[in-house]
Amino acid sequence: MGNGRGSGLRRRCSERASPRSHCDARPTIRNGLMFRPQSADQRRMFEWKPSYSVQIGSIDGQHQNLFRLAAKLHAAMGSGQSNAILAQLFDSLVQYTKVHFQQEERLMQGADYPNFAAHKAEHEALLRRVHEMQQQFANGRVAMSTDVLHFLKNWLEKHIMGTDQQYVPYLKAKSVA
Ligand SMILES: [Fe+2]
Ligand SMILES: [Fe+2]
Repeated sequence: MGNGRGSGLRRRCSERASPRSHCDARPTIRNGLMFRPQSADQRRMFEWKPSYSVQIGSIDGQHQNLFRLAAKLHAAMGSGQSNAILAQLFDSLVQYTKVHFQQEERLMQGADYPNFAAHKAEHEALLRRVHEMQQQFANGRVAMSTDVLHFLKNWLEKHIMGTDQQYVPYLKAKSVA
């Protein structure tokens, strides 16, 4: 398991914490790794927010699927699933990300989007990074940790709310819905 950086696990527990809080939940050991029950914040990590919407239904649907797949991986990590299952879920997320990027790129090209090359380069950089992570995980060099998910969440949020938003007027002009 990772060092818990950014995972919320380092939150200090007060002595007055309620009996149902995460502070009282005992960690469990599975597959030789320690797992702590997720806090409410962690469970909400991949919840869809209206602010993510690009106001194009087909693309919002794909973005929601990305968040759903990431939430599934997050939940599997929290419940101590085996490395094989985590690798499978991570792979589903990566495969769907590729499908989404390809569809987005096709739409941007069809709309003669002027920033197409820079946008595609961002997609490619993310895919290179996640492939690296997959390799490291497969080689047993690193354990799948919440750091991976924090990285993905931050990347997705930044990309969807920044880079993706910029193509919206061009796609809408081509009646993409
Ligand atoms: Fe996107
Ligand atoms: Fe994109």
